[in-house]
Amino acid sequence: MIKFPESFLWGGATAANQLEGAFDRDGKGLSVADVMPGGKDRFKILTSEEFNWELADARIYPNHRGIEHYDHFKEDIALFGEMGFKCYRFSIAWSRIFPQGDELEPNEAGLKFYDQVIDECLKHGIEPVVTISHYEMPLNLAKKYGGWKNRELINFYERYAETVLSRYHNKVKYWMTFNEINSASHVPALSQGLVKSNGAKDYTNVAQAWHNQFVASAKAVQFAHALNPELQVGCMIIYGTTYSMDSNPINEMATIIENQEFNYYCADVQVRGKYPAYTKRFLSSKGVNFSDLEIAEGDLALLETNTVDYIGFSYYMSAVIDVTQETPETVGGNLMGGVRNPFLKQSDWGWQIDPEGLRIAMNNLYNRYNVPLFIVENGLGAHDEVDENGYVEDDYRISYLRDHIEAIGRALEDGVDVMGYTPWGCIDLVSASTGEMSKRYGFIYVDLDDEGNGTLNRSKKKSFDWYKQVIATNGEDLG
Ligand code: BG6
Repeated sequence: MIKFPESFLWGGATAANQLEGAFDRDGKGLSVADVMPGGKDRFKILTSEEFNWELADARIYPNHRGIEHYDHFKEDIALFGEMGFKCYRFSIAWSRIFPQGDELEPNEAGLKFYDQVIDECLKHGIEPVVTISHYEMPLNLAKKYGGWKNRELINFYERYAETVLSRYHNKVKYWMTFNEINSASHVPALSQGLVKSNGAKDYTNVAQAWHNQFVASAKAVQFAHALNPELQVGCMIIYGTTYSMDSNPINEMATIIENQEFNYYCADVQVRGKYPAYTKRFLSSKGVNFSDLEIAEGDLALLETNTVDYIGFSYYMSAVIDVTQETPETVGGNLMGGVRNPFLKQSDWGWQIDPEGLRIAMNNLYNRYNVPLFIVENGLGAHDEVDENGYVEDDYRISYLRDHIEAIGRALEDGVDVMGYTPWGCIDLVSASTGEMSKRYGFIYVDLDDEGNGTLNRSKKKSFDWYKQVIATNGEDLG
């Protein structure tokens, strides 16, 4: 039987732009996520092929309504409390606090909303875990300043991070600076406010934007620790365990390179405090000269002295590298897809399901960095069949989560230090990649379809009681 530490933080995770709705209420400004419509071309928008700065009447914007958590947060958090959550990971919408991003004073109404969310968590004995920026920077910062490639954004983020850290530090101990910071190579619009018209296609801008984000993150770490040394500030990366297709050394080396460039590059800087040895090779393979980046005096020292306290990461699937075949069979995925793995099954959206890959990820990360890990996203996006009582018999989801929790247990036995586990979309919410409601992850069903129709009623799926039992027994009873 697996023994989880007594302090293990069982919970769930969400992001403001995918569940709050109320996109223009109480002074909130537009964010980059707010101008991304649902529909088939959404992926082209995420990857910065296309981007409309203006809202179009003919389009549906699922994030505008989300699941109206803005008005239902008490009910939702009460349900998390009923499941026994020890923690709840959510993000603060930057555009609620600084609607245009460049104001000098914050929007008090936005701050008041999160006062209430945090107090509601505490009322139910739930530790809040806050992501400062999760895929929704103020649109104005992308439009007027060109996104994160512009060094001025460091100042705007600094003001924002200092505002929320100062306001909530007595109530919130766990923080993360940027969601999936390494995703920028795939979704620069969401991650860095970089779209085709402001330079997303030039990798120099992506690399510069990363540098600016590293500095901004280090400043937030510095400020948080000065404010209260008890605060724990993490980075947050997307991790995809990556295998070589075979023992061909060419594929093995390509796998090492893929790991460095996708999984490790950002964490190397944020955890170790230094640009890694492969930086020049990586960037020059993308046509970027590292010495062309604007790195101000003091930046490198700041990065070195303000490393993060833990690594938050998302894990959904693994990937396979094969550079020797001309037309290998490929699959979809959370940003990285790749070659089909004959040993694995796939989700309804073609993501390869690989619990052992999570154990591998944890061993890789812990042995490389030696800081605690926090699995802040994991889960199965699936089509749910709901009955007339709002009940979903989601044995497939239970099975996915059980297998992944067992893998965490094995990683604990491997000696990995893990702080907690917050499955993604603990309540159904809008999918980031597709904009669909029908791609559901939750323990709680929300009656809303892809076109925005539905009662918004919340109901418990079978997995709700299952997860409640997992938490109640601290992972001993996995059903
Ligand atoms: C992560 C993101 O990449 O994956 C979330 O941090 C996202 O915002 C989650 O929702 C699941 O992806 P999707 O596309 O199924 O919503």
